[in-house]
Amino acid sequence: LHACALTKDLLGKKMVVTAGPTAESIDPVRFITNHSTGKMGYSIAKIAALRGADVTLVSGPVSIKAPAFVDVVPVTTAREMFNAVTSAAVDADIIIKAAAVADYRPKNISTEKVKKTDDNFAIELERTDDILKYLGEHKKENQFLCGFSMETENMLENSRKKLEKKHLDMIVANNLKVAGAGFGTDTNVVTLITAEDEISLELLSKDEVAVRILDAICGK
Ligand code: CTP
Ligand code: CA
Repeated sequence: LHACALTKDLLGKKMVVTAGPTAESIDPVRFITNHSTGKMGYSIAKIAALRGADVTLVSGPVSIKAPAFVDVVPVTTAREMFNAVTSAAVDADIIIKAAAVADYRPKNISTEKVKKTDDNFAIELERTDDILKYLGEHKKENQFLCGFSMETENMLENSRKKLEKKHLDMIVANNLKVAGAGFGTDTNVVTLITAEDEISLELLSKDEVAVRILDAICGK
């Protein structure tokens, strides 16, 4: 994929992209997170910037390099991501939420390290805010809202439900069980779902997937 092959069709567009996991502390030592590495969201941010967009990348903790010409806002928890995204979203033309946000966090964070005992141990969890749902409910005129959906079964049906429930313009669905898709890989196999359409893409590099998502958003 050559940068010079990309047209500047996103020039003047303000974009917010989220990527990576969130991490929710249990105590000063432990936390709850997931397998997201940030690769898909970072590819989207990189390709969008190369196509001329003004990109803010709200990123959970990842170990990959930030793309050039992108404004990175590092966050850790779902609550921090909510605050960063909702403030950046105010004047955004396009929002793409590739991050794997925690659905639950420990209800209480112990200030001291939790000591082990001989008994079983349970952590009470509470729901985090659904950032994407909030954005859908507060969508500005002409704002394009794109979510991601990770499923292991009933991918299309479950993803379409998320599209409707969160008032999205598009959802990028991927099935964790398909070879070449999912966490940590440099490739992905996704279906772009809108109210009218369902476009299943072949196995592509994450950069190519990013190109195709942005093409679809640009109406190509
Ligand atoms: N998402 C979000 N805030 C959350 C949880 C999810 O913004 N607290 C966003 C993700 O960034 C993604 C989309 O919602 O773009 C779908 O996430 P996913 O985990 O696939 O779906 P959920 O709606 O959380 O439902 P479930 O995990 O039960 O499948
Ligand atoms: Ca979830």
